[in-house]
Amino acid sequence: MRTRIILLGSTGSIGNSALEVVRRYPDRFEIVGLAACSNVEALKRQCAEFRPRCAAIVDETLAREATARALDVEKLYRGPEGAQALVEEEADIVLAAMVGAAGLSPVLAAIRSGKRVALANKEPLVSAGALIMSEARRMGVPVLPVDSEHSAIFQCIEGQRSEDIHQIHLTASGGPFYKRDRASMNGISPDEAASHPTWDMGRKISVDSATLMNKGLEIIEAMWLFDAALEKIGVVIHPQSIVHSLVEFTDGGILAHLGPTDMKFPIQYALTWPERVRAPMARLDLTSMPALTFAKPDFSEFPCLRLAMEAARRGGGAPAILNAANETAVEAFCEGRLPFLQISEVVEAALDQVESPNEITFDTIMEADAAGRRFARAFIDQAGVRV
Ligand SMILES: NC(=O)c1ccc[n+]([C@@H]2O[C@H](COP(=O)([O-])OP(=O)(O)OC[C@H]3O[C@@H](n4cnc5c(N)ncnc54)[C@H](OP(=O)(O)O)[C@@H]3O)[C@@H](O)[C@H]2O)c1
Repeated sequence: MRTRIILLGSTGSIGNSALEVVRRYPDRFEIVGLAACSNVEALKRQCAEFRPRCAAIVDETLAREATARALDVEKLYRGPEGAQALVEEEADIVLAAMVGAAGLSPVLAAIRSGKRVALANKEPLVSAGALIMSEARRMGVPVLPVDSEHSAIFQCIEGQRSEDIHQIHLTASGGPFYKRDRASMNGISPDEAASHPTWDMGRKISVDSATLMNKGLEIIEAMWLFDAALEKIGVVIHPQSIVHSLVEFTDGGILAHLGPTDMKFPIQYALTWPERVRAPMARLDLTSMPALTFAKPDFSEFPCLRLAMEAARRGGGAPAILNAANETAVEAFCEGRLPFLQISEVVEAALDQVESPNEITFDTIMEADAAGRRFARAFIDQAGVRV
């Protein structure tokens, strides 16, 4: 029996890497559903090659155009609810690789329909980790990490007792502006911010890596995935991006996960778990890799990391507000409406001024997300004139 996969965000960076993995194992994997937001041409090519039964186009207007109607699938779902409906289709695993908190409803729907979820889309877990993980426990379905750091941690702790974990060390490359002082970052352009030194990724996560917000989001992601307290998770700057993360145990032993900077490795592991399958990708050559270095992060140069940890500490709806404000600010930065250094200002103001719900339900999280976005948009309308 082949593993039947529904892939959300198939036209993105993770989506394309996932399809490369699937392409290499036609006897092992079958694509039964693909979802994209706006890149209908790419989705059409993917449908022609992988022959899924169903597809979804999230952008309602584009979904009604001729190219979309020409998609060769039995069922085409349209609009923001389309991805949610798609995950109800018969499948073994849903690979969530869309970007942003918009992934929350489809991820919850996938879990509630009893499917394993391979999660690249970290924002829903940041905003609503309590909901997602409690639903996964209730349904008895695993949430498998795809993010390279979390896949590394997952692999280091498999077979270990949680009480034996002393500290999780998340590695961070430091992004393109590592060692640059904050004053020199003022006129940074979206292209500069998106050119990551070691990973080739989508635009939003690349900018998050440049502000180090990505590492902050990953701390919250790790708290939920591994049921770990904030104090048990540390960040270490490792510019070579070869050690994907480390776990230190109570007896002083440290297990590290090493690998090439290629997302196909963690994607493949999430899709074949608990098995390991010989990978055709280029391997790490231990004797020719650079010296591995580790350093402490500088919280003063990268306030987003501090802010994410503050949101994690506050809990409740604070992480949802942080995430919503950050998504809004990054979008404004990419559109040239906000200077790079003001991304953290928007997030900080939202975190301080938007009221956070204490009770966590789907509705309160959606409200916190909407309030965070509203606040950030108003703040940017005033701040953006300084670009
Ligand atoms: N890239 C990486 O190496 C990497 C590593 C670890 C984790 N992640 C996480 O994986 C997720 C995807 O990252 P990425 O780099 O692959 O992003 P990306 O290249 O920007 O791709 C995003 C995908 O999501 C779709 N999409 C956009 N808005 C959507 C919406 N509102 N609803 C549903 N789908 C939507 C896009 O469709 P269209 O293109 O058709 O508009 C595209 O397929 C992010 O959460 C990121 O943090 C990425």
